[in-house]
Amino acid sequence: MRGVLVVLACLFASFSPLACNQQGSIPEGDLLVLTVATQETDGFRRFLRSAKHFNYTIKVLGRGETWKGGDYMSPPGGGQKVRLLKSALEDIQDENRVILLVDSYDVIFSSGPRELLKKFQQAKHRVVFSAETLIWPDRHLEDKHPHVREGKRFLGAGGFIGYAPNLKQMLSDWSGADSDSDQLFFTKLYINPEKRKSINITLDNKCRLFQNLHGALDEVVLKFEDGRVRARNVLYNTLPVIIHGNGPTKLQINYLGNYIPHLWMFETGCTLCNEGLRPLSGLQESEYPVVVIGIFIQQPTPFVSVFFERLLNLKYPKNRLRLFIYNQELHHEPHIRTFLEYHESEYQDVKLIGPEEDIDPVTSRNIGFDMCRDDIDCEYFFSIDVDVVLKNEDMLRILIELNKPFIAPMMTKPGRLWTNFWGALSADGYYARSEDYMDIVKGRRMGLWNVPYVSHIFLIKADTLRTDLKDPDLFESATLDPDMAFCSKVRNKGVFMFVTNMHTFGRVLSTENYQTNHLHNDLWQIFENPVEWEERYIHENYSKVLRDGLIEMPCPDVYWFPVFTDVACKHLIEEMEHFGQWSGGRNVDKRILGGYENVPTVDIHMNQVGYDKEWQKFLLDYAAPVTEKMYPGYYTMAQFDLAFVVRYKPDEQPALRPHHDASTFTINIALNQVGIDYQGGGCRFLRYNCSVNAPRRGWALLHPGRLTHYHEGLPTIEGVRYISVSFVDP
Ligand SMILES: *[C@@H]1O[C@H](CO)[C@@H](O)[C@H](O)[C@H]1NC(C)=O
Ligand SMILES: *[C@@H]1O[C@H](CO)[C@@H](O)[C@H](O)[C@H]1NC(C)=O
Ligand SMILES: *[C@@H]1O[C@H](CO)[C@@H](O)[C@H](O)[C@H]1NC(C)=O
Ligand SMILES: *[C@@H]1O[C@H](CO)[C@@H](O)[C@H](O)[C@H]1NC(C)=O
Repeated sequence: MRGVLVVLACLFASFSPLACNQQGSIPEGDLLVLTVATQETDGFRRFLRSAKHFNYTIKVLGRGETWKGGDYMSPPGGGQKVRLLKSALEDIQDENRVILLVDSYDVIFSSGPRELLKKFQQAKHRVVFSAETLIWPDRHLEDKHPHVREGKRFLGAGGFIGYAPNLKQMLSDWSGADSDSDQLFFTKLYINPEKRKSINITLDNKCRLFQNLHGALDEVVLKFEDGRVRARNVLYNTLPVIIHGNGPTKLQINYLGNYIPHLWMFETGCTLCNEGLRPLSGLQESEYPVVVIGIFIQQPTPFVSVFFERLLNLKYPKNRLRLFIYNQELHHEPHIRTFLEYHESEYQDVKLIGPEEDIDPVTSRNIGFDMCRDDIDCEYFFSIDVDVVLKNEDMLRILIELNKPFIAPMMTKPGRLWTNFWGALSADGYYARSEDYMDIVKGRRMGLWNVPYVSHIFLIKADTLRTDLKDPDLFESATLDPDMAFCSKVRNKGVFMFVTNMHTFGRVLSTENYQTNHLHNDLWQIFENPVEWEERYIHENYSKVLRDGLIEMPCPDVYWFPVFTDVACKHLIEEMEHFGQWSGGRNVDKRILGGYENVPTVDIHMNQVGYDKEWQKFLLDYAAPVTEKMYPGYYTMAQFDLAFVVRYKPDEQPALRPHHDASTFTINIALNQVGIDYQGGGCRFLRYNCSVNAPRRGWALLHPGRLTHYHEGLPTIEGVRYISVSFVDP
């Protein structure tokens, strides 16, 4: 009875290491894992990490050898592997030794030796090969393969396990060249009935030990259970021990390898994220790694001067930074000039390529890389497109500390699912959404993600640029866009592109509909980039107006609150002066309906500079909520016929006689500073004999237009005073 129970337990307990301890199980110490790796790729490091996690004993063959066994992306090849294995086996005398031979660049373990050995024993053969759905390299051999009732019929050479004596027997016939196909060699042994019997070979038809992903992508899903994460083969309902991204399934193994083994789980979050860090804290400034920052301006882009302000704010010693600025746009030359004028000397070095040099964008990327490659002190290249908003001042430090050959911070676009990475690729190499994309974007899964495509901003180690990525044509392709060509080459070189969402790093701007026909084009960005617009132009304390009641009432029913930043005020004034067509302050005014103005001012209307739609959006978003709060029960769509900037000057028009406004309510924003830019000024409400004498720059006065709030503009006695006035709901 007891014996039966143990057998049952063994059959069903492929998961539980303790349940199957009956006599005769192979001791874990008898297992040796052999793998061939001529280079230490990211994939190889991933393999070793997974092996170490489960305490496999690994011997690496071929280290330092030049790989001659064909391109691992395009079989056949692999003879070198067989030769190395054959000679390694010669040293092994122990008859009971069990050898597992697996590839490494695209292989991960998802469970430990005990489970592997148990499943090997259950296969009841001396040698077990992984199985494939697809046959290669010789399709003509199909009929010679034994039929199987269920499961996969063809042999896969990327993984097998067996007793040393049987493997020796199997390899005794090998005399092939390094470039010959190992797959064909083993297949021929397997389809030969005598050899199959005498060596005692079988296939792991149902992926109990080995999962080859090629031809099997639909069979495999991630499975989270009981504090573990594994791959499940849903076709055979098995939990393979070894996952192999053979052939063109590198992206899938990368995806699974973001989780398996134990790298990210619901219970623990990211466990990889704190491994192998390169801490910077405690370093002297002069010990910080030298970074070349490449800044690429390839199209008219909003908020370029803000970009440089944020660049300046990165927390990193500037004398350890070298800048490479590539600018293709005349329009942005003044922004760069202003930045360099004040800050060039703070950086170790600055190289600027302007539009006059007529260098194409792809070449500029290569020149940027070379600036780092060719400088022996350079340790990192930090590539940033100018439409990136560098919100996180610690970004560069964080990325360096994560210590990966290639890493990108996740960047988002407000209110959209767009990010600067793709979780998967479609068959033709374009965007596809991975199963975990939404969870990563929304921050429900935080960590480090090996992904097939990143853009806009990334950090590469200089060593990687000098070795794996030394190709001077990383961005060239006959068919692909430069960004896709680059990612494709990085992938094919076996460099993992990690993106991290462990912190909030920033955003990417929309460059759509960006017009460059004004002086301060950013003012027009309220629709296209509202978040950035608000940060630039809305007063830092505006949020306190409604929330904390930061609102004053200097006269009855006149409300006063902060709304514009100093920059907004400055830009609006400069924009109007740049336009220059001030009205003469006469009664006859062709700009308005009826052509006659009762109380004329020297002004420019918002619609004269093409700013009426944007201004209405501003009033709707920032003035209407205050109006509705202060005058309860009144709702506004912020419609206006007249909104304008007024200029008061002693020798032009210094004041305005008492009048009513043609509005339900009026918004009057002071654009410059009393006592500094001008003397005098202010506004007096006659009915209440109440004046606002010291207007604050960027603050809005909100008051009813008609009937009660008869008012006058007090004389400006020196300098120039600017206000912006809107007659809302006329
Ligand atoms: C691996 O070995 C270490 C120390 O020998 C042990 O603490 C750990 O639990 C082992 N891990 C597994 C998965 O068996
Ligand atoms: C293969 O080996 C197993 C276990 O050692 C043995 O039971 C079985 O009979 C062998 N099969 C053949 C065909 O020799
Ligand atoms: C915002 O409010 C804080 C606290 O009252 C004040 O210190 C700060 O100067 C205000 N900011 C501006 C731009 O006025
Ligand atoms: C209006 O106020 C000013 C100063 O606040 C005061 O001097 C003046 O007498 C007032 N006028 C009337 C008519 O109350």
